[in-house]
Amino acid sequence: MKPVLAVNMKTYRSAFGPEGRSLARDAGRVAQEADVRVILVAPLVNASSIAGVYGDVYIQHADPLDLGAHTGYTPVEAAALEGFKGVMVNHSEHKVTYRHLQAVVERARELGLEVLACADTPEEAAAAALLKPAMVALEPPELIGTGIPVSRAKPEVITRGVEAVASVDRGVAVLAGAGITSGEDAKRAVELGARGVLVASAVMKAKDPYRKMLELAEAMARV
Ligand code: G3P
Repeated sequence: MKPVLAVNMKTYRSAFGPEGRSLARDAGRVAQEADVRVILVAPLVNASSIAGVYGDVYIQHADPLDLGAHTGYTPVEAAALEGFKGVMVNHSEHKVTYRHLQAVVERARELGLEVLACADTPEEAAAAALLKPAMVALEPPELIGTGIPVSRAKPEVITRGVEAVASVDRGVAVLAGAGITSGEDAKRAVELGARGVLVASAVMKAKDPYRKMLELAEAMARV
Protein backbone atom coordinates (compact mmCIF):
# COMPACT_ATOMS: atom_id res chain seq x y z
CA MET A 1 0.00 0.00 0.00
CA LYS A 2 1.13 3.53 -0.74
CA PRO A 3 2.72 5.66 1.97
CA VAL A 4 0.49 8.50 3.18
CA LEU A 5 1.36 12.18 3.40
CA ALA A 6 -1.42 13.86 5.39
CA VAL A 7 -1.16 17.64 5.62
CA ASN A 8 -3.09 19.22 8.48
CA MET A 9 -3.73 22.73 7.20
CA LYS A 10 -4.84 23.81 10.72
CA THR A 11 -5.72 27.52 10.57
CA TYR A 12 -2.45 28.73 9.09
CA ARG A 13 -2.75 31.79 6.86
CA SER A 14 -1.74 29.69 3.88
CA ALA A 15 -4.81 27.46 4.37
CA PHE A 16 -7.26 30.13 3.23
CA GLY A 17 -8.29 32.07 0.14
CA PRO A 18 -6.24 31.83 -3.06
CA GLU A 19 -3.21 30.54 -1.12
CA GLY A 20 -5.21 27.61 0.23
CA ARG A 21 -6.46 26.72 -3.24
CA SER A 22 -2.95 27.02 -4.64
CA LEU A 23 -1.70 24.64 -1.95
CA ALA A 24 -4.49 22.24 -2.95
CA ARG A 25 -3.28 22.37 -6.57
CA ASP A 26 0.24 21.64 -5.33
CA ALA A 27 -1.05 18.65 -3.36
CA GLY A 28 -2.65 17.32 -6.54
CA ARG A 29 0.62 17.64 -8.46
CA VAL A 30 2.53 15.83 -5.71
CA ALA A 31 -0.04 13.04 -5.59
CA GLN A 32 0.45 12.54 -9.33
CA GLU A 33 4.22 12.82 -9.34
CA ALA A 34 5.09 10.70 -6.30
CA ASP A 35 3.74 7.24 -5.56
CA VAL A 36 2.20 8.48 -2.32
CA ARG A 37 -1.34 9.23 -1.17
CA VAL A 38 -1.63 12.91 -0.26
CA ILE A 39 -4.50 13.87 2.05
CA LEU A 40 -5.33 17.48 2.84
CA VAL A 41 -6.95 17.93 6.24
CA ALA A 42 -8.81 21.14 5.59
CA PRO A 43 -10.46 23.72 7.86
CA LEU A 44 -14.23 23.31 8.04
CA VAL A 45 -14.85 26.79 6.72
CA ASN A 46 -13.25 26.25 3.30
CA ALA A 47 -12.95 22.48 2.97
CA SER A 48 -15.43 22.46 0.07
CA SER A 49 -13.44 25.07 -1.80
CA ILE A 50 -10.23 23.07 -1.22
CA ALA A 51 -11.96 19.88 -2.36
CA GLY A 52 -13.06 21.64 -5.53
CA VAL A 53 -9.39 21.86 -6.46
CA TYR A 54 -8.04 18.57 -5.07
CA GLY A 55 -10.33 15.73 -4.08
CA ASP A 56 -8.56 13.83 -1.31
CA VAL A 57 -9.79 15.98 1.57
CA TYR A 58 -10.63 15.28 5.19
CA ILE A 59 -12.14 17.84 7.52
CA GLN A 60 -10.40 18.66 10.81
CA HIS A 61 -13.21 17.70 13.16
CA ALA A 62 -16.69 16.18 13.19
CA ASP A 63 -19.44 15.86 15.78
CA PRO A 64 -21.50 12.76 16.60
CA LEU A 65 -24.80 14.47 15.91
CA ASP A 66 -27.60 13.83 13.46
CA LEU A 67 -28.45 16.47 10.90
CA GLY A 68 -30.87 19.05 12.22
CA ALA A 69 -31.02 21.83 14.77
CA HIS A 70 -27.38 22.12 15.87
CA THR A 71 -25.75 25.50 15.42
CA GLY A 72 -22.03 25.65 14.76
CA TYR A 73 -21.50 21.87 14.77
CA THR A 74 -20.51 19.47 12.04
CA PRO A 75 -22.47 16.21 11.96
CA VAL A 76 -20.54 13.36 10.36
CA GLU A 77 -23.26 13.05 7.75
CA ALA A 78 -22.62 16.64 6.65
CA ALA A 79 -19.08 15.59 5.69
CA ALA A 80 -20.51 12.72 3.64
CA LEU A 81 -23.07 14.97 1.93
CA GLU A 82 -20.31 17.42 0.98
CA GLY A 83 -18.34 14.57 -0.61
CA PHE A 84 -15.25 14.59 1.58
CA LYS A 85 -13.14 11.44 1.81
CA GLY A 86 -12.94 11.47 5.56
CA VAL A 87 -12.81 13.21 8.89
CA MET A 88 -10.00 13.71 11.35
CA VAL A 89 -10.98 13.69 14.99
CA ASN A 90 -9.35 13.99 18.43
CA HIS A 91 -6.36 16.08 17.34
CA SER A 92 -4.42 17.22 20.40
CA GLU A 93 -5.55 20.78 19.60
CA HIS A 94 -9.19 19.63 19.49
CA LYS A 95 -9.58 16.74 21.91
CA VAL A 96 -12.83 14.82 22.25
CA THR A 97 -14.05 12.12 24.60
CA TYR A 98 -13.64 8.44 23.74
CA ARG A 99 -17.40 8.23 23.42
CA HIS A 100 -17.33 11.08 20.87
CA LEU A 101 -14.58 9.33 18.91
CA GLN A 102 -16.47 6.04 18.98
CA ALA A 103 -19.70 7.63 17.77
CA VAL A 104 -17.90 9.45 14.95
CA VAL A 105 -16.11 6.28 13.79
CA GLU A 106 -19.32 4.24 13.84
CA ARG A 107 -21.36 6.83 11.93
CA ALA A 108 -18.53 7.37 9.44
CA ARG A 109 -18.40 3.63 8.78
CA GLU A 110 -22.12 3.56 8.00
CA LEU A 111 -21.64 6.45 5.59
CA GLY A 112 -18.49 5.11 3.90
CA LEU A 113 -16.25 7.88 5.24
CA GLU A 114 -12.70 7.28 6.45
CA VAL A 115 -11.62 8.38 9.92
CA LEU A 116 -8.18 9.56 10.96
CA ALA A 117 -8.17 9.27 14.76
CA CYS A 118 -5.42 11.21 16.49
CA ALA A 119 -3.68 10.03 19.64
CA ASP A 120 -1.12 11.60 21.94
CA THR A 121 0.40 8.33 23.20
CA PRO A 122 0.85 4.71 22.06
CA GLU A 123 -1.77 3.69 24.65
CA GLU A 124 -4.30 6.16 23.28
CA ALA A 125 -3.45 4.94 19.75
CA ALA A 126 -4.21 1.34 20.75
CA ALA A 127 -7.50 2.39 22.33
CA ALA A 128 -8.45 4.28 19.15
CA ALA A 129 -7.51 1.25 17.02
CA LEU A 130 -10.11 -0.83 18.88
CA LEU A 131 -12.73 1.26 17.08
CA LYS A 132 -11.23 0.37 13.65
CA PRO A 133 -10.73 3.80 12.07
CA ALA A 134 -8.88 3.77 8.74
CA MET A 135 -5.85 5.41 10.34
CA VAL A 136 -4.48 6.46 13.69
CA ALA A 137 -2.08 9.42 13.86
CA LEU A 138 0.30 9.34 16.79
CA GLU A 139 1.64 12.75 17.80
CA PRO A 140 3.41 13.59 21.07
CA PRO A 141 1.87 17.01 21.79
CA GLU A 142 5.06 18.48 23.24
CA LEU A 143 6.78 18.17 19.83
CA ILE A 144 3.97 19.63 17.72
CA GLY A 145 5.04 22.78 15.92
CA THR A 146 8.58 22.64 17.34
CA GLY A 147 10.41 21.44 14.23
CA ILE A 148 11.89 18.69 16.42
CA PRO A 149 10.80 15.52 14.62
CA VAL A 150 9.21 12.72 16.60
CA SER A 151 11.04 10.24 14.38
CA ARG A 152 14.39 11.53 15.67
CA ALA A 153 13.56 12.79 19.18
CA LYS A 154 11.23 9.97 20.23
CA PRO A 155 11.52 7.08 17.75
CA GLU A 156 10.45 4.68 20.50
CA VAL A 157 7.04 6.37 20.61
CA ILE A 158 6.52 5.43 16.96
CA THR A 159 7.74 1.85 17.33
CA ARG A 160 5.66 1.34 20.49
CA GLY A 161 2.62 2.89 18.82
CA VAL A 162 2.99 0.75 15.70
CA GLU A 163 3.28 -2.40 17.84
CA ALA A 164 0.38 -1.42 20.09
CA VAL A 165 -1.93 -0.73 17.16
CA ALA A 166 -0.87 -3.91 15.32
CA SER A 167 -1.60 -5.95 18.42
CA VAL A 168 -5.17 -4.60 18.33
CA ASP A 169 -5.80 -4.53 14.58
CA ARG A 170 -3.23 -4.90 11.79
CA GLY A 171 -5.62 -3.25 9.34
CA VAL A 172 -5.34 0.15 11.04
CA ALA A 173 -2.56 2.26 9.51
CA VAL A 174 -0.40 4.39 11.80
CA LEU A 175 0.77 7.85 10.82
CA ALA A 176 3.49 9.60 12.83
CA GLY A 177 3.39 13.30 13.45
CA ALA A 178 4.87 16.22 15.37
CA GLY A 179 7.86 18.18 14.25
CA ILE A 180 8.25 16.32 10.94
CA THR A 181 10.20 18.78 8.82
CA SER A 182 12.36 17.08 6.21
CA GLY A 183 12.19 14.15 3.83
CA GLU A 184 14.67 12.39 6.08
CA ASP A 185 12.30 12.76 9.08
CA ALA A 186 9.40 11.32 7.07
CA LYS A 187 11.53 8.46 5.70
CA ARG A 188 12.65 7.58 9.21
CA ALA A 189 9.04 7.44 10.42
CA VAL A 190 8.21 4.94 7.67
CA GLU A 191 11.34 2.91 8.48
CA LEU A 192 10.10 2.73 12.07
CA GLY A 193 6.89 1.11 10.85
CA ALA A 194 4.54 4.04 10.23
CA ARG A 195 2.46 4.06 7.04
CA GLY A 196 3.20 7.74 6.65
CA VAL A 197 3.20 11.10 8.36
CA LEU A 198 0.81 13.83 9.49
CA VAL A 199 2.49 17.21 9.09
CA ALA A 200 1.46 20.82 9.43
CA SER A 201 3.95 23.66 9.90
CA ALA A 202 6.66 22.30 7.59
CA VAL A 203 4.25 22.54 4.66
CA MET A 204 1.94 25.34 5.76
CA LYS A 205 4.82 27.71 6.58
CA ALA A 206 7.00 26.68 3.63
CA LYS A 207 8.01 29.29 1.02
CA ASP A 208 7.26 26.64 -1.59
CA PRO A 209 4.69 24.15 -0.25
CA TYR A 210 4.86 22.11 -3.47
CA ARG A 211 8.61 21.49 -3.05
CA LYS A 212 8.17 20.64 0.64
CA MET A 213 5.33 18.16 -0.02
CA LEU A 214 7.31 16.61 -2.88
CA GLU A 215 10.39 16.25 -0.64
CA LEU A 216 8.36 14.50 2.08
CA ALA A 217 6.48 12.28 -0.38
CA GLU A 218 9.47 11.22 -2.43
CA ALA A 219 11.49 10.35 0.66
CA MET A 220 8.72 8.03 1.89
CA ALA A 221 8.22 6.48 -1.54
CA ARG A 222 11.90 5.46 -1.56
CA VAL A 223 11.67 3.35 1.63
O1 G3P B 1 -1.54 17.42 12.89
C1 G3P B 1 -0.20 17.63 12.60
C2 G3P B 1 0.43 18.44 13.61
O2 G3P B 1 -0.15 18.50 14.86
C3 G3P B 1 1.90 18.39 13.64
O3 G3P B 1 2.25 19.70 13.56
O4 G3P B 1 3.58 21.57 12.85
O5 G3P B 1 4.62 19.74 14.18
O6 G3P B 1 3.96 19.32 11.81
P1 G3P B 1 3.68 20.10 13.08
